Amino acid sequence: MSKQFQYDVVIIGSGAAGTALALQLPDTTSIALLAKLDYDQCSTYYAQGGISAVLEPDDSFDLHGQDTQNAGASLCDPETVKTVTEAGPSVIQWLADLGMPFTRDRQEVSSSGFHLTREGGHSKRRVVHAADATGIAMQNTLHAHAVEKSNIDLFDHFVAIDLVTRNNRCVGVYAYNRKSQQVNVFAAKKVVLATGGASKVYLYTSNPDGSTGDGIAMAWRAGCRVANMEFIQFHPTCLYHPEAKSFLITEALRGEGAKLLLPDGQRFMHRFDERGELAPRDIVARAIDHEMKRLGADYVYLDISHKSRAFIKSHFPTIYERCKQFDIDITSDPIPVVPAAHYTCGGVMIDLNGQTDIENLYAIGEVAYSGLHGANRMASNSLLECLTFAQASAKHIEQTLAGTNKPGRLKSWDESQVTDSDEEVVVSHNWDELRRFMWDYVGIVRTNKRLERALNRTHLLKREINEYYGNFRVTADLLELRNLVVVAELIIRSALSRKESRGLHYTLDYPETQDQAEITVLSPEPKSENRQRKVTLLSR
Ligand code: FAD
Ligand code: SIN
Repeated sequence: MSKQFQYDVVIIGSGAAGTALALQLPDTTSIALLAKLDYDQCSTYYAQGGISAVLEPDDSFDLHGQDTQNAGASLCDPETVKTVTEAGPSVIQWLADLGMPFTRDRQEVSSSGFHLTREGGHSKRRVVHAADATGIAMQNTLHAHAVEKSNIDLFDHFVAIDLVTRNNRCVGVYAYNRKSQQVNVFAAKKVVLATGGASKVYLYTSNPDGSTGDGIAMAWRAGCRVANMEFIQFHPTCLYHPEAKSFLITEALRGEGAKLLLPDGQRFMHRFDERGELAPRDIVARAIDHEMKRLGADYVYLDISHKSRAFIKSHFPTIYERCKQFDIDITSDPIPVVPAAHYTCGGVMIDLNGQTDIENLYAIGEVAYSGLHGANRMASNSLLECLTFAQASAKHIEQTLAGTNKPGRLKSWDESQVTDSDEEVVVSHNWDELRRFMWDYVGIVRTNKRLERALNRTHLLKREINEYYGNFRVTADLLELRNLVVVAELIIRSALSRKESRGLHYTLDYPETQDQAEITVLSPEPKSENRQRKVTLLSR
């Protein structure tokens, strides 16, 4: 039997953004916190390098903002950049107060007491971290507090399917319970998408399996605009090994002096950018891609072996251990690395409170387009964005909750027209096909011809997937595939509409960057019930 739940707030996603929001809402607010797998199956858990924040007297919000804007190829929203950079010190303090085990500065160089590392694009050391496993420390800290709170109910293994809207107001969400295989309805005064990114749309990715862009696809189907979807970030250095599943080698290695080398041991980054290995990610990933194609090489090397064994093992214990499993001793050997899809810079358009185009629907974290990242996210700005928007949306929800009506009972999920599938192979085949053509045609270097080829394929796949969805009972794989194809189409359409190269979007057809920097906005077909409310995005 399909169950119906009622909450004040339903948060879809229990990574950094969703869990931090749940913890910042008042204890009197009833909250359902959904995750589609276990609590540690999210990008947050895998974060390595750290969280950027201005904490030292020789640094400033202006400098952090300028670095963000430079990395973002001048496409960042100034108001958002200001808000997020200024929130840095307070969100770090909030995490430290919760007991987050940040690495301390044993040399007592930093006045904050935190050890600060550096990453690409940052002109200062401003990245706080927990060795090279910041995400594990953060997710464990947040989760431990969430399970203690009696107003938060955790629903793991619940896959949100679609939002329920009435007159352009969000009133709930349908979610598939993987354990009971039933679809349940969650009615709520406020619904928050904190579902993370969409990098799984590519064949090779640093992300965990759940990064399938569900929140972006759900918001799009419900009538929200999305922006800047062409800007998919490829992390330059993922471990190259058939069994390593694109394990990330943190940029902090380069921040601490690691060099990129060609197969013959030559350095090459200075030929592409005067900042060398510490140029922003788009430049480094493109340089590696260029050199690999030029030489027909399967990978390049990242080498930190000139540092002492003790330094490497204390700063990068996770990477040291992981590489050792593949017979690579990073204290003496260079590490074979390749780029892989890592971060979705665009997403559901929000304002500074995290509100979307649909009333009572919010989007925070990687699912959202807040304007912070522009055409290329600077390293370690993502976790900062998650925490800043968790704080802002918590405040807004608290202020507006009492004035929001309870939605009452919602329509149950209708399964009367569907049967069990007898052709599951269609789903797995389409998953593979989609991710492969996205990698081949919509990757680091693009052309109109490749993009159009990919767009045609998404149209064919979409028809097939929608037909399948209409006829058979849902499964988690089918739900994710249905979302992936929507996200793929949004990425390709955005890429085709940008007639220049900027940041992460590089096309051989328009190699120049135009003087005027404009964001790409896609609007869904208006639903007849929608009042066409649009969030006002400052300075845009
Ligand atoms: P996530 O942490 O991905 O959480 C998403 C949540 O949504 C999960 O709980 C998932 O189960 C749930 N979900 C998704 N779809 C559904 C659905 N349909 N129904 C129910 N639940 C759903 N950023 C930094 O700033 N610093 C770093 O050092 C850093 N290192 C990184 C290293 C790696 C390997 C990766 C992959 C990313 C890294 N990033 C880093 C990026 C950063 O980790 C992510 O952008 C950030 O953690 C996203 O947080 P989030 O809360 O938005 O989403
Ligand atoms: C890394 O540690 O290199 C990842 C940092 C990030 O994605 O911000």
